[in-house]
Amino acid sequence: MEKNIFTHQFNVDRDKRSSLKNHAPLLIWFTGLSGSGKSTVANAVEQTLFNKGIHTYLLDGDNVRKGICSNLSFSTEDRSENIRRIGEVANLMLDAGLVVLASFVSPYREDRENVKAIVGNTNFVEVFVNTPIEECERRDVKGLYKMARKGEITNFTGVNAPYELPLSADIEIDTTQLDLETIVVLIVKNILGKIERK
Ligand code: PPS
Repeated sequence: MEKNIFTHQFNVDRDKRSSLKNHAPLLIWFTGLSGSGKSTVANAVEQTLFNKGIHTYLLDGDNVRKGICSNLSFSTEDRSENIRRIGEVANLMLDAGLVVLASFVSPYREDRENVKAIVGNTNFVEVFVNTPIEECERRDVKGLYKMARKGEITNFTGVNAPYELPLSADIEIDTTQLDLETIVVLIVKNILGKIERK
């Protein structure tokens, strides 16, 4: 696939672009079940970072699947391709100097590790939104769990498709144990330590 493709070196590179900003680039990857609160937490974290003058961008499952990934289903292969594309898009955004927040179910460990490999270990923070499935199902904001239990959706994560637990997430939160404000403070503190200019 990569035959006859050459990499160009441009005058303005990642370091130079990044030097225009008061922070280093970083990818914050939120993973967890549907309804776990990923998007809510990512949204609140982005708002707090934005208020501090940090140049952010939020990539979110539902939105991305209406655009760049609109041709993908929820099969194992398509989920991998979904996550690979997000990883590549996020990497371009890191090149542009941004702090990127990505909120995807991303149920397969290998896919998440692949994103880490794309952007580089030191640019990747994994946040496991570890809300128990009983609570996700109780919330059932989109009515998808009910449909999955009735067999109207196949491959629904946690019901009839797997979720592989992160083994060494940088941050793990349970939205039933902590309130949103506390969660945001915890995550932002961790992030600021990673993106501050030394
Ligand atoms: S994945 O697994 O990472 O490729 O999924 P993602 O791109 O994050 O999309 C998840 C959102 O799609 C809706 N949805 C499903 N989720 C899981 N499994 C199945 N089969 C499915 N079908 C539709 C659901 O609204 C997810 O949104 P969130 O915000 O996570 O609830």
